[in-house]
Amino acid sequence: MVGMRIGMLTGGGDCPGLNAVIRAVVRKGEGIYGHELVGFRHGWRGVIEDETMELTIGSTRGLIHRGGTVLGTSRTNPFKADDGVACVLDTLAREHIDALIVVGGEDTLGVANQLVEHGVESVGVPKTIDNDLGATDFTFGFHTAVQIASDAIDRLHTTAESHDRVIVVEVMGRHAGWIAIYSGIAGGADIVLVPEEPFDIAEVCRRIEHRHQHGANFSIVVVAEGAQPKEGTMTLQSGEVDEFGHVRLGGISSVIQAEIEQRTGFETRVTVLGHVLRGGTPTAYDRVLATRFGLAAIDAVDDGAFGTMVALQGDSIVRVPLEEAVRELKTVDDELLDAASVFFG
Ligand code: F6P
Repeated sequence: MVGMRIGMLTGGGDCPGLNAVIRAVVRKGEGIYGHELVGFRHGWRGVIEDETMELTIGSTRGLIHRGGTVLGTSRTNPFKADDGVACVLDTLAREHIDALIVVGGEDTLGVANQLVEHGVESVGVPKTIDNDLGATDFTFGFHTAVQIASDAIDRLHTTAESHDRVIVVEVMGRHAGWIAIYSGIAGGADIVLVPEEPFDIAEVCRRIEHRHQHGANFSIVVVAEGAQPKEGTMTLQSGEVDEFGHVRLGGISSVIQAEIEQRTGFETRVTVLGHVLRGGTPTAYDRVLATRFGLAAIDAVDDGAFGTMVALQGDSIVRVPLEEAVRELKTVDDELLDAASVFFG
């Protein structure tokens, strides 16, 4: 189609590579297809409130290496805001938007999928450090988060070893253990706790004691923020819930630290990597993946392939139905869990 006016938004937690997607969409959308791009600020909030930003080749130069998102982001859910959907439809009509490119994870893309029945034409781009979206082998941002976590684990090794300590490292990832298992394998962690396999703290302590009885003077325990104790073995506090019904995670490592120290007598420390995993420059891999996703998204819009998400399958970028991408959480598979278990404990 010629001369479309295309809106773009980035929603949910920010993630390294968002700016690379924006740049790629604009470069091909304006430069090759001759479309006009309009940015909406702060995810769906900017569409509800009609807060826009100019997106041209000129205004998106120099973005490939920049972390965060120049559009801003939020966890706003139009289906939870008063008249949210009506405001979205009004804004899109007022701004003469023909289609939207929605860059986000399960929640942001879920909204795009729900808006299909309200006549909103969109194409999704899979973003999240958590790598928990279905229908794509990888989301951009994940690789960068794993690299940051692995570098941190390398550093924690030397200090743990110098002090004969156990260090519990907490990583993000919500209810999937992708970041934990990848960084745990890459960083040579001794124990990795992921949501996919509820853990028994007594067994964790037994494994640490076993290591220390056999020559090790330190241990590194990587724990995913969403890891769960086996029923009845340990109590966790639950946090606030966001507009998409997700509980705010974080803090499990402190409970584990106290248990390990008390049960084993080994001096134990905690490092929560948290938002550090989402900050700063994307890795080269994520810059390339984000660029390929951006180019594929503008191609899909130009082809009128609405209600789809671009995805990585094998080495190819493909289009999948949006609903397939948001249907269920992609968690760590058994093959990877088995591979990891050889090294842990
Ligand atoms: O989904 C990305 C993510 O970083 C999760 O790993 C984490 O649980 C959550 O976002 C944190 O969200 P917020 O930035 O709102 O604290």
